[in-house]
Amino acid sequence: MEDHVKLQYNGKTIELPLVEGSQQEKAIDIQKLRASTGLITLDPGFKNTGSCKSGITYLDGEQGILRYRGYNIEDLAANASFLEVAYLLIFGELPTPAQLTKLQEDINRESLVDEDIKIILKSFPKTAHPMGVLSSLTSALISFNPSTVDVESEEDMYNAIVLLLAKFPILCAWAHRKIKGLPLNYANTSLTYTDNFGHMLFKLPHQEYHSQPEVIDALNKLLILHADHEQNCSTSTVRVVGSSHAGLFASISAGISALWGPLHGGANQAVIEMLEAIRADGGDTSKYMAKAKDKNDPFRLMGFGHRVYKNFDPRAKIIKKTADEVLSHLGIHDPVLDIAKGLEKQALEDPYFVERKLYPNVDFYSGIIYRALGIPTEMFTVLFALGRLPGWIAQWREMRLNKEPIGRPRQIYVGATERHM
Ligand code: CMC
Repeated sequence: MEDHVKLQYNGKTIELPLVEGSQQEKAIDIQKLRASTGLITLDPGFKNTGSCKSGITYLDGEQGILRYRGYNIEDLAANASFLEVAYLLIFGELPTPAQLTKLQEDINRESLVDEDIKIILKSFPKTAHPMGVLSSLTSALISFNPSTVDVESEEDMYNAIVLLLAKFPILCAWAHRKIKGLPLNYANTSLTYTDNFGHMLFKLPHQEYHSQPEVIDALNKLLILHADHEQNCSTSTVRVVGSSHAGLFASISAGISALWGPLHGGANQAVIEMLEAIRADGGDTSKYMAKAKDKNDPFRLMGFGHRVYKNFDPRAKIIKKTADEVLSHLGIHDPVLDIAKGLEKQALEDPYFVERKLYPNVDFYSGIIYRALGIPTEMFTVLFALGRLPGWIAQWREMRLNKEPIGRPRQIYVGATERHM
């Protein structure tokens, strides 16, 4: 087996080493390329570029495999709690019962945010998008928790991670309660992490709130399925921002902004809006299929296609099944679910989608579940952010512990050459 590739340029042959991962993925190591040839590589959108070596998440887009720290996503979604998965992603192993209890207790202790955060929240208009609110409030957390984190100190790192895991769900719930005009509440620390989040979202001031196990189970699954996805747009943002040694909270706040876009996490909101628009337009899915294929029309089938998955998205399979279960448990018949299934069927048989290997992704059915649970459409991407939080933390931590250099790509300049006034 070759351990390098040869590149010929300007009459010279240089050897570039090959790097192999634990799942036999190969890469050309170009770290010495510019020094030895003066060349750089050009790869818009980083379609062929690995930015790091990572031991957190393995993804095989051809075979539809997704694993966190070696565990299949199907296994984790069926058998683990979101907090266990968070521990696994961040610290590398599933927690023992004692480790899990300690983490939960530490989170409970930190499950408060400064009351002055409420003043900041109050000053946003009610129409503000909750992702903007969440990103701002996460950034504001820095001012209320200003101690710097020594990344070499396990204790410092652990404390910062606990702080974020504890306070972030409160900010997510408050973003929701602001839209709904509900009083801001705090955690009920007698509950599990996911159950408590449901409690903070849905508890009304004048009524008892009893969660339904099926609802909490669906939320738990959705959070796990979103928990990490290797070097996607928001995670790469978190790593790049953190690579300038900006702190954990600042890096996560930047990641939230990246996630907001409709080509990334914002797609879950865009899917429901699209399905609603199709319904309002008489439910003719063929018309929208034609629009999606028309190169002169900017319309895309939201919730379809993925940069890496070229066979199927294993998360979408689990979510579709969960959507059926939750709606049937709640006795809801949502006409947009029928439209979604119709669109999926048509797309999977259509040569345009087949040739381009476009399949439903994680965002195609998740919004239908959120909606059945009574979560407003603008909040869908916030739910994605809560799920992705452990992944962002794990990737930030790995990047800092690996002492990765500051992220600073190069460019090929194509502007004006020197000019004079
Ligand atoms: N509808 C219609 N055509 C599509 C779609 C779509 N949803 N997605 C890709 N295509 C076409 C695209 O026009 C291109 O065609 P051609 O080769 O003729 O120019 C081809 O498929 C390849 O697409 P691409 O845009 O070059 O692929 P990419 O890897 O850069 O983009 C994507 C991936 C997810 C941004 C894209 O598929 C898309 O915009 N999907 C809709 C938005 C969406 O659902 N995003 C959520 C992604 S999964 C969760 C997450 O990451 O947060």
